[in-house]
Amino acid sequence: MISSYYTSPNKDFLIANGDSLELLNEFKFKFDMIFADPPYFLSNGGISLQSGKVVCVDKGEWDKGKSHEEMMSFNMEWLRLCRDKLKDNGTIWISGTYHNIFSVANCLTELDYRILNVVTWQKTNPPANISCRFFTYSTEFIIWARKCEKVPHKFNYDLMKRLNDDKQMTDVWRLPAIGRWEKACGKHPTQKPLSLLTRIILASTNEGDWVLDPFSGSSTTGIAANLCGRRFAGIENEEEYCRMSVARRMMLDDVNERVNLKRHIADLRTLDQCEQPGLFANEAVADRRLPFT
Ligand SMILES: C[S@@+](CC[C@H](N)C(=O)[O-])C[C@H]1O[C@@H](n2cnc3c(N)ncnc32)[C@H](O)[C@@H]1O
Repeated sequence: MISSYYTSPNKDFLIANGDSLELLNEFKFKFDMIFADPPYFLSNGGISLQSGKVVCVDKGEWDKGKSHEEMMSFNMEWLRLCRDKLKDNGTIWISGTYHNIFSVANCLTELDYRILNVVTWQKTNPPANISCRFFTYSTEFIIWARKCEKVPHKFNYDLMKRLNDDKQMTDVWRLPAIGRWEKACGKHPTQKPLSLLTRIILASTNEGDWVLDPFSGSSTTGIAANLCGRRFAGIENEEEYCRMSVARRMMLDDVNERVNLKRHIADLRTLDQCEQPGLFANEAVADRRLPFT
């Protein structure tokens, strides 16, 4: 039976340590939104330039390359399990690069999800391409899909417009790559920036909503969710990253740290100028059931 590795004191942040392909079967709970940053399967001995040094870009065993068939079967399996954990009006976001994103899109279609957008995250500060034989990689893609063809999904259109100088928000988001200020609790090799996750969560959930991340890593999704007053459950295979997640969440219990993080995130700075977003801590949400305990 699934048990929580960590539950925050106000129960807005839960982590389970284990394999999502097993654990997702073990609890009955429906989420408002899922964000997944699955293995891209690109750790095949490639190199890149970081701070002027040539470094190997392998992320870990979990990211080692797979055959097309193996990748398809892995993506089908976790996306099928996630569909079962989504509310009927729920949406799922999946990040990727060309290595995995076409496989993910095919699986979504086969599983009867409906793709809403493919957001292009354009990194404003991409790492240099040292081979000089093709264009510098500066983008990642995030597919946004809803569970049901006929049930309307949540989209905070007006809020997105407000965050974009009162113009319709497009599907190209120019946001910086991960900053040093986000790594105070250690390094995860593929940690996503908080500004990206905050945008996703603000766009597609409301205060108090439950967000699931089946490949939670250092739990950027959870930290962004809590900063926006949403609740979070994450699943992560490696205990080291569960520990990092707990350390990151514990930082939020310090009001000064929370304010400091929010100051780094442009969307939250804009929101703070207009209004104080109501936080889950304000007891605004009545339903206190937890995905797992
Ligand atoms: C791309 S990273 C996610 C990084 C995360 N978005 C962050 O900001 O820290 C994918 C994570 O999924 C974990 N993982 C891979 N396969 C898994 C599985 N079957 N079940 C649970 N976690 C898994 C890896 O250990 C890794 O930390």
